[in-house]
Amino acid sequence: MEAPERNLALDLARVTESAALSAGRWLGKGNKNAGDQAAVDAMRLSFNTLNIKGRVIIGEGEKDEAPMLYNGEEVGAGRGVAVDVAVDPVEGTNLLAYGRPNAISVVGIAPAGAMFNPGPSFYMKKLVVDHRAKNVVDLDAPVVDNLRKIARALEKDVDDLVVFVLDKPRHKELITEIRSAGARIQLHTDGDVAGSLMAVDPHCDVDVMMGTGGTPEGVLSACAIRGIGGQIFARLDPQSELERNRILEAGVDPHEVLTVESLVRDQDVFFAATGLSGGTFLPGVKYTGHGAITHSLVIRGKTGTVRYIESHHNWDYLMKFSALQYD
Ligand code: FBP
Repeated sequence: MEAPERNLALDLARVTESAALSAGRWLGKGNKNAGDQAAVDAMRLSFNTLNIKGRVIIGEGEKDEAPMLYNGEEVGAGRGVAVDVAVDPVEGTNLLAYGRPNAISVVGIAPAGAMFNPGPSFYMKKLVVDHRAKNVVDLDAPVVDNLRKIARALEKDVDDLVVFVLDKPRHKELITEIRSAGARIQLHTDGDVAGSLMAVDPHCDVDVMMGTGGTPEGVLSACAIRGIGGQIFARLDPQSELERNRILEAGVDPHEVLTVESLVRDQDVFFAATGLSGGTFLPGVKYTGHGAITHSLVIRGKTGTVRYIESHHNWDYLMKFSALQYD
């Protein structure tokens, strides 16, 4: 038996909180790069307080040349355990910039070498379900078959189901198939990490997440699903010839069906997310005039403990010494 060890996810919550406190000021301002930059700067600084030797495997930014914590960047104080790091300082940069729900700040870490490295892949096809349906679905099965099996596993009818789908032209056929199967749909312009996590959380309205979204977002979602339970089935789904060729040149298998176990090959994983813009997934940053209130989801894979943390930040104390200007 083991004595309790340090839960790094609790430290990670401070990293996502500081990113959210900085980026939350950019809600609805129409400037997605400024929000992202604020979150990146805060996250990088906060990481340095952690006793980890971290290497960013899932960074953000190449796709749209956003300011980034780049792939291969070393983060943390450089002492202690060697870990792979996945970050998305603002998951849903447009959601934040236009004041739409479900922008979050997200981090996952796993033992060094455990995270799937997507190389030059930007997009993957995903199917995310909660633990009751994890053994009944197949990424390649017709949509209607999967929905019928999920409904049975959840003891519902197909027309009770809610499917989270990104509202993208590439999903026209998928949306038609879901509608003709009789299921209901939540269409979101962005933010499929929140979509995936809502699908595995039995308390949320969403029952399943389907469709093609970012590959990095798939690995980040897997960090959380490891702890919450449920399953993500995924396969790289390049959206251009250039992306397809780069994947092949990098030697990444474009046909493999990836699962939560192959996306993060160790149960000793930690995850934190803090709400930025609000919505049903996590409340957003509320500035109170002399401080702020944040809400975070904190998960440890090994124990399966899921915590919701409401933090009250006080500028009178914090601004006396903080290197980050939140007020
Ligand atoms: P960003 O935070 O990088 O803007 O990503 C938002 C997002 O909607 C992800 O949630 C999703 O996985 C991906 O973009 C989908 O990419 P695209 O908008 O190019 O279809």
